[in-house]
Amino acid sequence: MSAKKQQTKAEVTKVTTHVLQEMKFRGEKISMLTAYDYSLAKIIDAAGIDVILVGDSASNVMAGHETTLPITLDQMIYHGASVVRAVNRALIVVDLPFGSYQGNSKEALNSSIRIMKETGAHAVKMEGGKEIVESISRILSAGIPVMGHLGLTPQSIYKFGTYNVRAKEKEEADKLISDAKLLEQTGCFSIVLEKIPAKLASKVAKEVKIPVIGIGAGSGVDGQVLVLHDMLGINKQFSPRFLRRYLNLYDDIYKAVGEYINDIKTRDFPNEREQY
Ligand code: KIV
Repeated sequence: MSAKKQQTKAEVTKVTTHVLQEMKFRGEKISMLTAYDYSLAKIIDAAGIDVILVGDSASNVMAGHETTLPITLDQMIYHGASVVRAVNRALIVVDLPFGSYQGNSKEALNSSIRIMKETGAHAVKMEGGKEIVESISRILSAGIPVMGHLGLTPQSIYKFGTYNVRAKEKEEADKLISDAKLLEQTGCFSIVLEKIPAKLASKVAKEVKIPVIGIGAGSGVDGQVLVLHDMLGINKQFSPRFLRRYLNLYDDIYKAVGEYINDIKTRDFPNEREQY
């Protein structure tokens, strides 16, 4: 671990929305990863990650669904509570899943209250701009911090039709900028920008005062987020250009399990020291 990273870890004992705002003002980049379970959340928190997102990508990586749409509020609460039990330092944000907030602002508030009460997380995240502003206001009025999410919003995959880069054309880029400003005015503490041109993301990060966290949005934003299972190389099929793999855990686990099977079959495991 670099000296700079150790310094940051020691300085902040609990990351809050206020700490993230100060990081933006200081020009210190924010690190964010997803987690869905106790064991991995414990490791990434100890390593000093600033924000843990209990993302609805759990629908893909934990449950094997093709999209994020099937995961339920109860399932998100289960994942959120598991992560909260592991974490001491990071700010924990839980995604409001598809169908738990689009109906009306009362439903959005009730879903958010359930997440906050039943997981102990610190904030919720929701996808969309102008069309969900009323719900965001109502959630904020209950004292629940909200993180926005613009650009490629996977809960709308059937509207987009593809997972391609968003907002390449002027009209969509202009809407994204005005949505980002609206989310800021409404009171979101941060915004995730997913899979949009780097220049556009950088412009948004300059034009709003709240921290902008990118995934596939280039380096000109205030922080970066990746799906943990992707950056650890557990999933070999998903290889978008923006993904940097830090491990190849698929291969390591495959090899380790092969060795274990072999040790059993050859009667090497357990040996005398591994029994009572
Ligand atoms: O659900 C998720 O993992 C996300 C990230 C991709 C930002 O929303």
